[in-house]
Amino acid sequence: MILKQGNYFHLTNGQISYIIEVIDEHYLVHRYFGKGIRRWNDSGKVAYYKRSYNTEHGMGNISFDDFPFEFPYQGHGDYRIEAISIEQSDGISMLDLSYVNYKIYKGKDNLNGLPSLRAEKEHAETLEIICEDQVAGVRVTLYYTIYHDQNVILRHQKLENIGTDYFYINNIQSMSLELPSMNWDCISFYGAHAAEANLSRFPLHHGIQRIESRRGSSSPNYHPFFSIVSPDTNVSQGEIYAMHLVYSGNFLAQAEMDQFGCVRMQIGIHPDEFIWKLDPKAVFESPEAVLVYTDQGLNGMSHIFHRLYREHLIPKQFVNQNRPVLLNSWEAMYCDVTMDKLERQMKLAAKAGIELFVLDDGWFREGNTTDTSMGDWECNYEKLPGGIRQVAQKAHDMGMQFGLWFEPEAVGKRSKLYEKHPDWILHVSGYEPTEGRHEYLLDLSRQEIQDYLVDIICSYLKDGDIQYIKWDMNRPLTDVCSERLNGRQKGETAHRYVLGLYKILSRITSEYPEVLIEGCSSGGARFDPGMLYYVAQNWTSDNTDVLDRTCIQSGFSYLYPPILMGAHVSASPNHQTGRESSLSVRYQVARQFNLGYELNLECVDKNEVEEIRNQIEAYKVDRNWMKEGQFYHHDTNQNYVMWSTVSKNQEKCMAMVFRKRHDFFSSHEIFHFLGLNPHWDYYLEQDGKIYGGDELMRIGLSIPLEKRDQDATVWTLQKVGL
Ligand code: GLA
Repeated sequence: MILKQGNYFHLTNGQISYIIEVIDEHYLVHRYFGKGIRRWNDSGKVAYYKRSYNTEHGMGNISFDDFPFEFPYQGHGDYRIEAISIEQSDGISMLDLSYVNYKIYKGKDNLNGLPSLRAEKEHAETLEIICEDQVAGVRVTLYYTIYHDQNVILRHQKLENIGTDYFYINNIQSMSLELPSMNWDCISFYGAHAAEANLSRFPLHHGIQRIESRRGSSSPNYHPFFSIVSPDTNVSQGEIYAMHLVYSGNFLAQAEMDQFGCVRMQIGIHPDEFIWKLDPKAVFESPEAVLVYTDQGLNGMSHIFHRLYREHLIPKQFVNQNRPVLLNSWEAMYCDVTMDKLERQMKLAAKAGIELFVLDDGWFREGNTTDTSMGDWECNYEKLPGGIRQVAQKAHDMGMQFGLWFEPEAVGKRSKLYEKHPDWILHVSGYEPTEGRHEYLLDLSRQEIQDYLVDIICSYLKDGDIQYIKWDMNRPLTDVCSERLNGRQKGETAHRYVLGLYKILSRITSEYPEVLIEGCSSGGARFDPGMLYYVAQNWTSDNTDVLDRTCIQSGFSYLYPPILMGAHVSASPNHQTGRESSLSVRYQVARQFNLGYELNLECVDKNEVEEIRNQIEAYKVDRNWMKEGQFYHHDTNQNYVMWSTVSKNQEKCMAMVFRKRHDFFSSHEIFHFLGLNPHWDYYLEQDGKIYGGDELMRIGLSIPLEKRDQDATVWTLQKVGL
């Protein structure tokens, strides 16, 4: 429900409230965001202090030093982080946005050329607030969508040139939020290639704390997410204000604690890597930001994001679909692919119950390394004499679907495409372009390059041989300059690249909606809500070591439901870390997510093939309820990773406790279940006994202490009487 009363707007669904006030018929002021309140009677007034060494504005002599602007800009005495800045053709940077009008309607419109959350008329309501600066010729429309039953506000901005001359947009953030002066912690995620999504937590202090990506994609280094949390926050309690950006390019996420302890947080396109020329009448839209509030701690936050992304973000056709159990060829044969080898793997895979056979890199390469032919997408017929059609046909004949790896955005120096179109890559004339993994990146902002990629990928999809694509992207952007853009507009390249990528994905997915795409970028380097609008799952990390995976999968699953994350059982010793682990523990860690296999089945002994068959059979039963179950992180000491999934109707539960190393301190560790129905009794499959839901949550189960490192205990519960 969105109420407009007097000079304020109150967005509420009972669970959360967001309040904006218009002061002096001019300034748009943030008054509140958090737990729902029934009505607002102007409590917590904006302080009209006359501050020394600052400015005075409006009828109340407002000081801008700590004024809670809803969408802040600089130039008049607010010296904190700004959400918008423009530069006129004569170099002047000034803005004074004044409230003009508003609009309220059911549902929400799509963003133009950008991915965004779906919000149908029966699910949500939207408020548009229009502000203008007539002198600068700027109209800004602020968008707020509130879901009826989710603690989520969607935010973005539209900027319009209503003047007669062009101007440059130097910065337009997707949201800005003011929080009161209190003790806060910040939680964000950092990482590296093969070590993605590590939770980082530190107390917010005076000044600006920020994370960012300038790599052209959302990156493995920081995730486009930032949250401010109360210091008591843990998995099951605490207040969290979280923001997440639906975008796959450079981003900035930051919080500033000002001189008085008040906090401003923002997320959006990184302004340092961005500029946009806006001609008269032209419009620019910022990406969408997702703003979440909960007082239920990290699990409360996860549950909001999980449901939102599962139901309102990923392609509709995959919302209720099981994902196929796949076997990926990469770690089994890398680029050394032959028809013979593939066929042998396929036979074993089909026997084990694999549903999708994925041919990874190598099928088009001249040799067995990654330095040739990238961009041509012509099958190497010496390796695969019958071409991709024949490989696909073989998989189909054995009852499996077939999937193929592409890295569409890249082109290699040793390729026909580069020979023919050396100018198609991102490059700055006069400089030697920078190679990354023997590749350059195509300038996706250009229409003819988008057409080339759509045509070539669709040529593989048109015969219906391929049910899955792994869409990879193995290097960051460098030489970020498009030949087609002039002067300062060359600074638009990074954003135009992302828009080009979205266009390509949107064209392919609308023509072949049934094809499942798995996003990948050297693992999880571009795992973000922007990509998930087009792809229904993402490869989580190139690191498949079970110990490291518990950490990486934990990190991403604070934001994404397990069904969206590819988790593979690979070989032991692990190819990335050399660590050994049992087949069973590798499976237990992977099966809590979207299960796949990535190992040479010929090197697995007979008993293990049988074990894999049993694993897949069991997984296929549980995935039906786990795909929409509630995923919980459990508070634990450093030596453990503990997860559980409870079915939507609370009738089933699977819990997994992973111990990193055997130690004698762990002999008294207890696992407390979460999310069960306290009034029901549950049958525990592992000991054949019956326990009350209240007992399992309050007292819990003792974790067995086996004499081994990397040990996993799994418990499965079922409501008695089912
Ligand atoms: C990336 C991916 C891997 C694999 C290779 C192939 O590193 O993350 O899974 O597909 O490329 O070159």
